[in-house]
Amino acid sequence: LKLGILASGNGSNFAAVAEAIAQGKLNAHIQVLIYNNPEAKAAQRAQEQGIPATLLNHRDFPSREDLDAQIVKTLREYDVEWVIMAGWMRIVTPFLINAFPNRIINIHPSLLPSFKGVRAIEQALAAKVKITGCTAHFVTLEVDSGEILLQAAVPILPDDTLETLHARIQVQEHRILPQAIALAAYQY
Ligand code: GRF
Repeated sequence: LKLGILASGNGSNFAAVAEAIAQGKLNAHIQVLIYNNPEAKAAQRAQEQGIPATLLNHRDFPSREDLDAQIVKTLREYDVEWVIMAGWMRIVTPFLINAFPNRIINIHPSLLPSFKGVRAIEQALAAKVKITGCTAHFVTLEVDSGEILLQAAVPILPDDTLETLHARIQVQEHRILPQAIALAAYQY
């Protein structure tokens, strides 16, 4: 599987996919990391691992469509088959979706369809649910609404803060995202 990873920030999910590949748990290759934020730690992680990383700063593009067109061009240049959104904080357009039909996977920090969109963990805390988690799903035009591949549940503890809960959700994200990639590739 030739993967292209899109990340905006820390890149721990990117690192988890790279680690699963290194350990032989996922038969894939990361062709390129695309990041939109010059500060993204994901870029540093890619450099350490010798993975090509391309900065496409959304501020350099007049519209979402222009950014996505350049993303598609870059993914094609690197011969990418599957696109993995690992903390990609941009809303995607049909340019990207239509270029990779049923080939884009996202990881979201809630049990979808609950708590879509931004600040999903804050939403779960505010709703006072007792169980939340994470979801690996296909990306469609409607945000956080594509077919679900895998989910993991995480209990919310009485003294949880955003930080402690996010940390426990991330442990599960790092586990299910590589599994979801394998599952998707096997199914489709
Ligand atoms: C993850 O919690 C993911 O669910 C959300 O953004 C976060 C990215 O974390 N979409 P990281 O950059 O992979 O560490």
